[in-house]
Formats: sequence, structure tokens, C-alpha cells
Amino acid sequence: MVPEPSALAYVPFVSVQNMMRLVTETGVDAFIARLADYIAADFRRWPEFDKTPRVASHSTDGVIELMPTADAENYGFKYVNGHPRNMRDGYQTVTAFGVLASVATGYPLLLTEMTVLTALRTAATSALAAKYLAPPESQVMAMIGNGAQCEFQAMAFRSICGIRRLRLYDVDPAATLKAERNLTAEGFEVVTCASPEEVVEGAQIITTCTADKQFATILTDNMVGSGVHVNAIGGDCPGKTELHRDILLRSDIFVEYPPQTRIEGECQQLDEDHPVQELWEVVAGLRPGRRDRSQITLFDSVGFAIEDFSALRCVRDAIEGTPYFDRLDLLADPDDPRDLFGMLRRSSGA
Ligand SMILES: NC(=O)c1ccc[n+]([C@@H]2O[C@H](COP(=O)([O-])OP(=O)(O)OC[C@H]3O[C@@H](n4cnc5c(N)ncnc54)[C@H](O)[C@@H]3O)[C@@H](O)[C@H]2O)c1
Repeated sequence: MVPEPSALAYVPFVSVQNMMRLVTETGVDAFIARLADYIAADFRRWPEFDKTPRVASHSTDGVIELMPTADAENYGFKYVNGHPRNMRDGYQTVTAFGVLASVATGYPLLLTEMTVLTALRTAATSALAAKYLAPPESQVMAMIGNGAQCEFQAMAFRSICGIRRLRLYDVDPAATLKAERNLTAEGFEVVTCASPEEVVEGAQIITTCTADKQFATILTDNMVGSGVHVNAIGGDCPGKTELHRDILLRSDIFVEYPPQTRIEGECQQLDEDHPVQELWEVVAGLRPGRRDRSQITLFDSVGFAIEDFSALRCVRDAIEGTPYFDRLDLLADPDDPRDLFGMLRRSSGA
């Protein structure tokens, strides 16, 4: 008879269903605010982390990536894909899961879904950046690309920056209708627009959150007025960008981890030594965010492993004492650590 696993065999596992229970019980706004606090805390101790650009495996239709990082105590990684054409076949563009582990033993401490969590952490990071970079009196955000990430971005900008007025545009009107329905139900004032030119009118913040594996031009230079903050989410792979290069040349560019952003972000359109500023230094108070009213600020977001590490820490802390996780029998735990084979033999009754 196969013996019952011992206590050391179990790893907490958060399914999609449990993640949704955890987030809705906390409240989406409150959960995003908590995530942003974890991300800010880790950005303030940025030098403590092992950092590397994510390991990407590209194909014609998309990319599969591993995103590892560690501090002295914990190691974390996320598996994530990006397949813009998936949507047409009923699949998500982005799915993910991740692990937090103990550096001391190498044992996993948490295995969790990260599709919902990635949308939440991406939105929390964008809004955290905007808190330092967007005009302080911002009231209206234009959102180009109304797919899976869109509403999460809106929720984060309300929770962290107080934005309640949205202008929406997508090449697919069905996506805009979906986002309008969800966001009106959440209490936003929503205006739907028929073109990119119309959507940016009167917006102090422009979020681009489209998915297309090409050098796209979602925003042209004439669409970005002085003093605007651009939150560019969708250009996050080599050969996949959203902004005309001239916008970058007029902007102060803020990035997560330059060695990764220069390969994957809007910055791939610029010379290797084009000046960029690191967001963590702004959050840590080492350099200013927005300096004046006319400055165009650009958060060239690609998503970095430390944000996922923060999200994993946040979830590990949040599930403690709740029923929102299962115990997965993930690790072999023989009575004698060297007798792994004996454990296998005994399981067959030998
Ligand atoms: N920076 C990050 O940390 C981060 C994290 C997650 C996802 N992303 C990226 O964000 C993007 C959006 O992800 P998603 O899950 O919402 O994708 P999605 O496929 O659900 O939605 C993308 C939307 O963009 C629209 N679109 C495509 N081309 C357009 C155009 N030219 N103009 C207007 N709309 C257009 C599509 O119709 C679709 O509704 C993807 O590119 C993804 O890779 C970035």
C-alpha cells in the first residue's frame, strides 16, 4: 500500500478558483493596493535581488518565458506565455503560474496560478509608476486595447491614482463593449470611442494594452500632447511594440530592468545607450519622478520578475489562516532522505 505523504511532502497550492475567492473577498481595489505595497517594498530594496532578463523561447505565434529572481531568503519564478493569436481560438493571450521557494532548503513554499495574479500585478505596477510619473491632477485615462488586462488596469488606476473617468478604444468593438459593461458596473464613468485619435482627447494618462506580434503604431507622435503620461503595456517582446519612435524621443522613459527592456520594450527602437531611468530608483526616492507640467513621461512596461516575486510573497502571506489553498503532495519525503528508491519499492508492497 502506498503510505500517506508526510507533512514535509505538502506544498500550498492556490488554484484559479481559490485566487478568485481570495481577491473578491479582499476586494479587487484593496487587493491591488496591497500588491502595490509589496511591489514598492521590494523595489525599495532592489539591489538585494538576483536579476536577469527573462529566459524567452520564441515561436512564430508567441513566446514562452521563465522569470526567475531571488533574495537571500526566497527564490521565485513565473512561467508565462504570450500568444496574441490565441484569442481567436478561445484561448487566453497570457497564462501563467509560479513558485516561491526557500533559499535555505530549496523547498517550494507556494505553487499558484498566476494568470489572474499577473493581470493584478501588472496593473498594480502600472498604477504605482503613474503615482510618481502622471500629472498629479490627472482625472481621465484613455485605454487602447480592451482585452483581458484592460479592466485590471482601470481598477488599479482608481485604487492608487484616483482615476474614475475612462475613454476606451479597441479595433474590435466587441472588446470595448465588454470592457464598458464591466467597468460601468464597477462605477466608472466610461466613454467609448471609434478611433485612437478620438480616445486620447482630453486624457492626462494614455494606457496602451494591445496584443499584436509586430512593430505596431498604436500611438503616433501627434497624438501625445505635452504633459501626458503614457503607460505602455503591450510592447513586451522583441519585434512587438506599440508606439511610434518619435514619441520615445520626446519622452522621459522609465523602465523596470534596462537589460530586459532594451530587448523587449518600446526601447528596442532606440540606440542601446539612449538614456532611461529605472523605476525602482524613483520609488526608493533616489531620483525624481515627474518634474514639471509639460514633461511627457513614458512607463515602458515589459513586466519584470521582481513584480512576480512580490506578488508571490503577497499571496503566501494572504492565504495564511484562510481556506483559499489546497495542500499538494508535491515533494517526495522518504523516512530516510537517502532511501528514495526504498520508498518507491515499499509503495508497491515489496
Ligand atoms: N507589461 C507587462 O507586464 C504585461 C503583462 C501582461 C500582459 N502584457 C501585454 O499586454 C497586452 C494585452 O494583453 P491582454 O491579455 O489584455 O491581451 P488580449 O489579447 O486579451 O487583448 C488585447 C486587445 O488588443 C486589441 N488590439 C489589437 N491590436 C489593436 C490595435 N492596433 N488597436 C487597438 N486595439 C488593438 C485586441 O482586439 C484585443 O482586444 C499583450 O500584448 C500582453 O503581452 C504586458
